[in-house]
Amino acid sequence: MSDGTTLRSIEFAIRPNPAPVAEGRRAEILADPGFGKYFTDHMVAISWTAEHGWHDAEIRPYAPIAMDPASAVLHYAQAIFEGLKAYRHADGAVVTFRPEANAARFARSAGRMALPELPADVFVDAIDALVTTDQAWVPSLGEQSLYVRPLMFASEVFLGVKPAGHVTFLVIASPAGAYFKGGLKPVKIWLSEEYTRAAAGGTGAAKCAGNYAASLVAQQEAIANGCDQVAFLDAVERRWVEELGGMNLFFVGADGTLRTPVLSGSILEGVTRDSILTLAADMGHRVEQTRVSIDDWREGVASGEIVEVFACGTAAVLTPVESLHWRGGSQAMPTEAPGPVTTAIRAALLDIQHGRSPDRHGWLHKVC
Ligand code: COI
Repeated sequence: MSDGTTLRSIEFAIRPNPAPVAEGRRAEILADPGFGKYFTDHMVAISWTAEHGWHDAEIRPYAPIAMDPASAVLHYAQAIFEGLKAYRHADGAVVTFRPEANAARFARSAGRMALPELPADVFVDAIDALVTTDQAWVPSLGEQSLYVRPLMFASEVFLGVKPAGHVTFLVIASPAGAYFKGGLKPVKIWLSEEYTRAAAGGTGAAKCAGNYAASLVAQQEAIANGCDQVAFLDAVERRWVEELGGMNLFFVGADGTLRTPVLSGSILEGVTRDSILTLAADMGHRVEQTRVSIDDWREGVASGEIVEVFACGTAAVLTPVESLHWRGGSQAMPTEAPGPVTTAIRAALLDIQHGRSPDRHGWLHKVC
């Protein structure tokens, strides 16, 4: 485990919240936080200008931000974000999971969206500073955690289309239970045949706001068809499985092999995806990053070659897939979800994150 440091890479001015949420109300929220509904007492803000670089770092009361209607992000969506979690261990310590991996992806996303790069140590320190300040908000029950959401956007007030010369970085945090209502409930997947999420040369590999906006009409279609999430195919051949609206996919073979779509340039490189590839190999599974076609999926399930399918992401951890649906048809997984491999990998990951098993890969970062 890497140790949090009190020597910050950038100095944060601290403006404590004069009216934090009362202890009793906070306890009520932590008893049943849901996902993304409640926010802690503080937030981090750092400004960037072309002239002064990153400056004015502060921890301030969580509050709405005033924005000029001509702020570039509201028009041209020059915005990126990250998602990671802080966990409270049995000894009271609070840790985050692989924050350096999120920092590296944030830098890649910034590069793709012509935003300035935030140094990785500032990214990690900003999270540490917020989580330390609001540590009372890190839940300790079951699978709960504090979901941390760093974001960066073009705050320059200008309607010309150009990379912004004024950018804002924020970190907010939200106590989190299960992402999907019903916890580990298996999900139904809708195959989007009309819409695609991203194309080669586009922004699919970046965690930018627009990718999620572009997924919503297909997600709406999924809901209208009784499904929970949408799966996208590649934009050229409409054949290769890419990812869900906000999660990567894994296929478990009857021989125990785990397959996940290879990073095609239009797939988001999930930190959970990467951790599962490592953990599954540790557990003796063969793991493959390969192209998986929609026919491979359907025929594999029909023949019994694919025995489990699951989705993964920071917010939803591992979520079993129960069935695939498309216009005019559907197909249930051969075994009742969650299957044993999904369950075992999910437990192995959560056990590391919650400090119940050793952190062999140095993934945990001690915050406080
Ligand atoms: C995450 O898993 O952290 C995501 O970013 C998915 C979604 C909540 C946007």
